Amino acid sequence: MTVRWGIAGTGRIASDFVRDLADIEDAEAVAVGSRTAAGAAGFAGTRGIARAHGSMEELAADADVDIVYVAGIHPVHRDHAVMMMRAGTHVLVEKPLAMDADDVQEILAVSAGTGRFMMEAMWMRFNPLHTELKHRLDAGEFGRVVSIVSDFSFEAPRDPSHRLFDPAKGGGALLDVGIYPLNLAWWWLGAPASWSATGEIGPTGVDESVAMELSWADGATAVLTCGSTRNGSRTSTIVCEGATIVIAPPSHSSPVAEIRTAASTEHVSAARPGLHHQVREVQRCAAEGLRESPRMPHSDSLAIARFMDDVARSLRAR
Ligand SMILES: NC(=O)c1ccc[n+]([C@@H]2O[C@H](COP(=O)([O-])OP(=O)(O)OC[C@H]3O[C@@H](n4cnc5c(N)ncnc54)[C@H](OP(=O)(O)O)[C@@H]3O)[C@@H](O)[C@H]2O)c1
Repeated sequence: MTVRWGIAGTGRIASDFVRDLADIEDAEAVAVGSRTAAGAAGFAGTRGIARAHGSMEELAADADVDIVYVAGIHPVHRDHAVMMMRAGTHVLVEKPLAMDADDVQEILAVSAGTGRFMMEAMWMRFNPLHTELKHRLDAGEFGRVVSIVSDFSFEAPRDPSHRLFDPAKGGGALLDVGIYPLNLAWWWLGAPASWSATGEIGPTGVDESVAMELSWADGATAVLTCGSTRNGSRTSTIVCEGATIVIAPPSHSSPVAEIRTAASTEHVSAARPGLHHQVREVQRCAAEGLRESPRMPHSDSLAIARFMDDVARSLRAR
């Protein structure tokens, strides 16, 4: 049976998602919602989507949608996710799940109350390279993780009206791209025992670069950086007791890595990354009546949101 997807938003990532959804045989984008009827009609028309709704309320009321992909700017994630779940649909919500941990908690409570599946769209965790590396780590092939160095910094034009820089649109590098190195660290090492952070707040009042040092009770450490006005390595290096893994840039969505040991270097090349790999997991979980995926659990979304709140507070207090 084909799973019927609704798309809440008509921006860049919504467009990429619909493109990648075409790779999933039992999934179809059947409806789109936008703030304007013209926006919805334009998006639907060019992508062969059957129904265009001129408001999110209309999309929520569309009874012939099984799962909604929440793809608007960060500040609308909470309201759209809550609205869709209350209307009876499961949701996949773009990262960051919400603007802060309080809003994440509200989303989780509505998922619990309605019994609807909800997952933050941390597609990195479902890309084939990341899945393979994590599987091999869990099988004990690399030994214990000793350190992680991960960067997601890129140079964007400092346009104060762009969502990256406008506080009203959820601006800031940490929420937008810092969330990837943080997810890598959480996924491979769990919650850290202690941390410190430094960073720069730009002229629009949002963080433009952040550097975080994390440490774990077993002695593991991580140095995680992100930024929106300067290019960085966008590489992830994971040192384990038995091997060093270097994920090529952009490491959150890379298909290639090197696994270096004292004796050899293995070149790993995985299938094409994309937004569709997470779709298989969402559909599997929803079909099995689960409310969350064990691969991107609610507890990680909440813990990372709390961590980002703490980092943001520490930057403002400096
Ligand atoms: N997974 C990834 O790799 C990835 C990549 C990029 C972005 N994202 C995430 O996806 C989300 C959207 O990013 P994007 O780059 O697609 O953004 P975008 O193109 O700037 O905008 C997305 C949509 O948000 C809605 N929107 C814009 N301004 C709004 C406003 N002032 N009030 C209410 N809604 C507004 C619009 O939808 P309508 O006009 O249809 O209402 C717009 O098309 C962000 O949360 C971002 O973190 C994820």
